[in-house]
Amino acid sequence: MSRIVLNTDLGSTKIDRHIYGHFSEHLGRCIYDGFWVGEDSPIPNVRGIRTDIVEALKAIHIPNLRWPGGCFADEYHWMDGIGPREERPSMVNTHWGGVTENNHFGTHEFMDLCEQLDCEPYICGNVGSGTVKEMSQWVEYLTFGGQSPMTDLRAKNGHPEPWKVKFWGVGNENWGCGGQMRPEYYADEYRRYSCYSRNYGENQLYRIAGGADRDNFHWTDVLMKNAGKHMHGLSLHSYTLTDTWAKKSSAIDFNDAQYFSCLKSALSIDERIAKHATIMDRYDPEKRVAMIVDEWGTWHECEPGTNPGFLYQQSAMRDALVASVTLDIFHSHADRVRMTNIAQTVNVLQSMILTEGEKMLLTPTYHTFDLYKGHQDAISIPMDFDAGEIKLGDQTLPALSGSASRSEDGTVLVTISNLDLTHSHPLEIDVRGMDVSSVTGRILTADTATAHNTFENPEQVKTQAFEDVTIENGTLKATLPNLAVVALELR
Ligand code: AHR
Repeated sequence: MSRIVLNTDLGSTKIDRHIYGHFSEHLGRCIYDGFWVGEDSPIPNVRGIRTDIVEALKAIHIPNLRWPGGCFADEYHWMDGIGPREERPSMVNTHWGGVTENNHFGTHEFMDLCEQLDCEPYICGNVGSGTVKEMSQWVEYLTFGGQSPMTDLRAKNGHPEPWKVKFWGVGNENWGCGGQMRPEYYADEYRRYSCYSRNYGENQLYRIAGGADRDNFHWTDVLMKNAGKHMHGLSLHSYTLTDTWAKKSSAIDFNDAQYFSCLKSALSIDERIAKHATIMDRYDPEKRVAMIVDEWGTWHECEPGTNPGFLYQQSAMRDALVASVTLDIFHSHADRVRMTNIAQTVNVLQSMILTEGEKMLLTPTYHTFDLYKGHQDAISIPMDFDAGEIKLGDQTLPALSGSASRSEDGTVLVTISNLDLTHSHPLEIDVRGMDVSSVTGRILTADTATAHNTFENPEQVKTQAFEDVTIENGTLKATLPNLAVVALELR
């Protein structure tokens, strides 16, 4: 039996809704054959953007969408993606399968997508192969309200009014695919590019510097030291692997040891964030600069028979648990981590959604985001409990993971995951600081960690009402089945 003490009236750190952000790159079938089907498609769409995807993402309250990459961003020349579509030049997408990119999805289409999703755009500019002028003109084209060559061009392309763009990425992975730079060099480039990415009128950019990969603490140190004053956010990329980069494992065909190693890899982000945050604290004790984990999630082997450059993978109950434990960790670092973007929304890596022609399915990971959406912009409530332990050979995992928050209307959301492959887990929550008049629960669970949804059986893994919960004299009792994510709403 685990006992949790929940002081519902404590805590002051907000879980920024942007922690629930998403990422969409021109990679494989994320944009084309994903979000974008084109206006003439028989698949229901609004101005070429697929309606069922928009509806599904709105239902989980998507707060922001990062675009156009990823590695693609540092090869993308935005002017190729404006004007009449049939006149746009094409290019080779060298990073992702060497396919021809026809630039039919560009700035106007992306801003339309964000408007349809009712989310904030997070645009990543090109430092690696672009110019300062090019980035500067993109910001002007998007956000300047007065008359200029760029705004004349925008009007000619059908959008006289400026858009609002807040989140502005200055390059991506500039230590690697974004230019193979040294941190000292990138820090200077960051300062130059961000300087000419201007604020126009009321549009104030929130400038995000390209950050470290995983445990490259030196990168964070140099960036904070040399450019910290000039940025609002510094990114971090941290993918979850089951084995190694060289030897990945299948998303749906794995054994118990691989379940353990994958969850272990996901949990290691806690220490990683803490170490990067310690470095940031040294230069920025007030925590003005946010840590932006703008690429995270599982990276498995591609589905057999698909283009290896397209990073198309299935998503199982194991991924749903990777998502829940990672979101719990983000909540616990919400004082510094104020935005994250899971990679990538549709048909790439740890997706929310998979498509096949007109068919669409929601992955188990989508359902975790659904169960967790009430945490967005709520106050994180400290939750201390003995998580217990599960063992397999010499591998150990906590049995439970969880987090809690209080929304403005007083509702308390408690989300708890049972990572145990086979055993259910009884739980007692001592709820202090509120009189609970009602508790409602939802659960995502499956018999096996490999369980997943297919186009033939798209509702194999889905949420349902969770009835196994009682409340008496302020004590909540529940039994969590094995492999489960439970969300309890206390009022
Ligand atoms: O998400 C896939 C790729 O992973 C991105 O393009 C890149 O930034 C990272 O290496």
